[in-house]
Amino acid sequence: MTATPLVEVRDLVTHFTHRVGLFGTRREVVQAVNGVSLDVAARETLGLVGESGCGKTTLGRTILRLVARTSGEVRFDGQDVFALDLAALRRMRRRMQIIFQDPDGSLNPRLSIGRAVREGIEVHRLARGAEADGRVEALLAEVGLPAGSAARYPHEFSGGQRQRACIARALAVEPEFIVCDEPVSALDVSVQAQVLNLLLDLQARRGLSYLFISHDLAVVRHVAPRVAVMYLGRIVEHGPSDGIYQRPLHPYTQALLTAVPVPDPKTKRARVVLAGDPPSPVNPPGGCPFHPRCQHPGKNESCRTVRPELRELAPGHQVACHLADR
Ligand SMILES: Nc1ncnc2c1ncn2[C@@H]1O[C@H](COP(=O)(O)OP(=O)(O)OP(=O)(O)O)[C@@H](O)[C@H]1O
Ligand SMILES: [Mg+2]
Repeated sequence: MTATPLVEVRDLVTHFTHRVGLFGTRREVVQAVNGVSLDVAARETLGLVGESGCGKTTLGRTILRLVARTSGEVRFDGQDVFALDLAALRRMRRRMQIIFQDPDGSLNPRLSIGRAVREGIEVHRLARGAEADGRVEALLAEVGLPAGSAARYPHEFSGGQRQRACIARALAVEPEFIVCDEPVSALDVSVQAQVLNLLLDLQARRGLSYLFISHDLAVVRHVAPRVAVMYLGRIVEHGPSDGIYQRPLHPYTQALLTAVPVPDPKTKRARVVLAGDPPSPVNPPGGCPFHPRCQHPGKNESCRTVRPELRELAPGHQVACHLADR
């Protein structure tokens, strides 16, 4: 943990209630985020990994107040994000942006790339007229789009180029913190590395902070020195990416990692099978939320009944498992 984090999340809980059943008479509570605490320092990237449905996007969106929280706290640069009035929230929104997995769905097909990027500049009154045009051109060049891109429409670009346009649009308002929600998952493998390297260059040049969401620990390790592993709305392991990648301590992280191809055939990982689908966040298991799928040979009664808290097992490396040891 760092001395003065830019983003501080404390015990954040986001539950969704929706009606189910034939007549919509029954209510169901989806416990998407279930008590998450984390920090992101200025100029730092925190990686966030976990299987589909574990609550990564909901966590990112709740931090930006795009989704209502149920309880808990988020501070951005010391300010309580949930206490801001609408005018203050609008000013805060300029400083915190989000990039989505699907560049197609997040660009308006009827808006030229130039107009899409210009929108934020105008909304936040950062520039107008020729000065705004100049900023748009400079941003498109900065993300590596060819000259003349401003007048073109989303369908005239490749997937990788569209994601570059989305990055330019996020940068247009000069944010300090960006939630990158699986920004390369929808892209062809050949362009994934280019877009990741662009994000790294921009971070170095502009001093950005990222919360980098992915289901792939290998991708996260490339961009984030520190990673949090999420399972059913909770952080179950948190620490240095290299350490966790080389020696995961939580049985869930161990299982996740066996799904990652190992480049060197000599360092084969023992295959741990992640049995079954993740349980439903509507009715999460008691005790350790991972216990029904856990393959640890020492699994015992407390795993079924007592929820493990995060414990620090190595410097800066925390694990929520009764059985994990160094
Ligand atoms: N607006 C919503 N209303 C009701 N339930 C929701 C809503 N948004 C998300 N959920 C539910 O919350 C849980 C967490 O979803 P979320 O999208 O945060 O997961 P995720 O980790 O981002 O998954 P993925 O890797 O597939 O993107 C899921 O069970 C999902 O169905
Ligand atoms: Mg998601």
